[in-house]
Amino acid sequence: MCGIIAYLGEREAYPILVKGLERLEYRGYDSAGIAILKDNFIQLNKVVGKVNNLKSTTINGDIGISHTRWATHGIPNEANAHPHHNGDRSLFLVHNGIIENYVNLKKELIKRGYQFYSDTDTEVLTKLIDYHHKNSANQNTLKAIKNALHEVVGAYGLVLINKNEEKIYAARKGSPLVLGIGQREFFVASDPAAFLEHTRRALYLEDDDILEIDRKNFQVHNLHQDCDKLKRNVDHIKWNLSNIEKNGYEHFMLKEIHEQPDTLRNCLAGRIDMENHDSKFTDKLQPEFVKNLNKIIIASCGTSWHASLVIKHLIEKYSRIKVDVEYASEFRYKNPIINKNDLFVAISQSGETADTLAALKTAKENGLRCFGIVNVVGSSISREVDSGNYIRAGSEIGVASTKAFTGQVLCGILLMVHLGKIKGTITNQTAEKILNNLKNIPDLVKQTFEEEEKIKEIAKFVATKNNCFYLGRGLNIATALEGSLKLKEISYIHSEAFPAGELKHGPIALIEEGMPIIVIANKNEGIVYDKLLSNVQEVKSRKGKIIVIANDNDREIQDNVGEDSYVIRVPEVPDYLQAIINSVPLQLLSYYVAKERGCEIDQPRNLAKSVTVE
Ligand code: F6R
Repeated sequence: MCGIIAYLGEREAYPILVKGLERLEYRGYDSAGIAILKDNFIQLNKVVGKVNNLKSTTINGDIGISHTRWATHGIPNEANAHPHHNGDRSLFLVHNGIIENYVNLKKELIKRGYQFYSDTDTEVLTKLIDYHHKNSANQNTLKAIKNALHEVVGAYGLVLINKNEEKIYAARKGSPLVLGIGQREFFVASDPAAFLEHTRRALYLEDDDILEIDRKNFQVHNLHQDCDKLKRNVDHIKWNLSNIEKNGYEHFMLKEIHEQPDTLRNCLAGRIDMENHDSKFTDKLQPEFVKNLNKIIIASCGTSWHASLVIKHLIEKYSRIKVDVEYASEFRYKNPIINKNDLFVAISQSGETADTLAALKTAKENGLRCFGIVNVVGSSISREVDSGNYIRAGSEIGVASTKAFTGQVLCGILLMVHLGKIKGTITNQTAEKILNNLKNIPDLVKQTFEEEEKIKEIAKFVATKNNCFYLGRGLNIATALEGSLKLKEISYIHSEAFPAGELKHGPIALIEEGMPIIVIANKNEGIVYDKLLSNVQEVKSRKGKIIVIANDNDREIQDNVGEDSYVIRVPEVPDYLQAIINSVPLQLLSYYVAKERGCEIDQPRNLAKSVTVE
């Protein structure tokens, strides 16, 4: 939520910041702003809406801070846009996160004579720093930031400039910030994607770090210590600019859907150990711990939560270990029943989701061993867990998650094999079969693209509707939920997903003539498949329009669902691969429906990619 990039160097800052903000727009796009420091004067430009609106002007100077906003406190208008400033416009600040005690802080500041021009918590933070600045010996900016942050409850990634210093200050707690180190220039951003074209040398700030950058050097201080200069590793970012560009695709989402054969191949690389009939982990899941494992608790949100449901189903079925899937946003508030022999798994694309991070911290406080399935390398969750597997999907820019979902499921299957092998619930023979099948998954996903033209046609029909249902049984309930979320978030069509058997217990009342009912029906589901076809008949009797995802070798399906129904074909795969294969046509369907409706596919309304607020 919210993207930050700051620059200090020898070049004009404004165009660098605009370009950087564009790369961060996935984090929010309600409003944007830039403040540039030159000759002891800070000039500001703020706009409502997209970063593009900043391009109609420029400001000269080689030090600047900037921000693209996802609104939390206050509507998206110019006053609430960042950067925010103090009364005499000497301090300017951008902020990502939420200051939870801002109401009380604001009251105190008002008593001290401060006035406010916006509804934001960020303006309160700026004026709190101003208060400490004006009241600190020698008006020391670093000291003022520290004193202010001692009073703050909440999360922040913030960057500040002072008109009287050729410096940038940054501080982090709970919201990511990374320093980019170039040739006689520095960048501070929420994500290295914002400065990747300028440098690959990156230093990730940790919680309570305060960064001070001048023209020559930088120093990392600690919020709670004086006389501190911390050492932090400088990483070399390996991914390429092409990962964060559209490469000829109209939208990032379409590009990311089509990348899945490659991202899944990457995910598997070096992780299949045919010799030992196992998946390979660079983790610390000791066999003794796994043998005594009581249960697994997975916490996640949104699409990652749906991947968690798939993984639960598979681990329970094949590894025979009990798995609870928790909404991360609920976990820490529910006084969870935790046993020290439980394994906690956090699943997240961004690795920054505040709810998942908070659930992870709760698990750690309770002494649980924590495993991560995360996409973004170096993200907060990836650094907090004891061990884990990266999804290796590359940058996912489209707000609707696609390749991260299939990568998460694949990592879950690898985990399933590993746990099952240690537990003795998966034999060498079964493991070998699963691992061999995993190798085929990239090509099988590629095959699903053969239906893309047909899906475009079906999308034209769905795009005219206001309501939609997704049905599945067993493992496919999770896939139905994911398909439904994808449709609603980018096309704004109201959509719900159910276990098909639940339909008759209530939701069937909503079916109207011509309502699209998307059914996931894999032939090898056995008896459940037959039951599902009965559910289809119930829908047809109420004049719902069936769109079925069926296997390419299912000869009877068209007869079963009727000539007037749409059939989308996918290759037949064992159940543990079904979620991956079935979700790809559902992603395409959502994409083309949204396109048909003229929606902003990569940046749907009210959403942001990385949800770093609770
Ligand atoms: C939906 C979507 C969101 C995320 C959710 C969790 O397409 O992207 O539902 O899945 O916000 O985000 P991560 O996986 O980054 O923790």
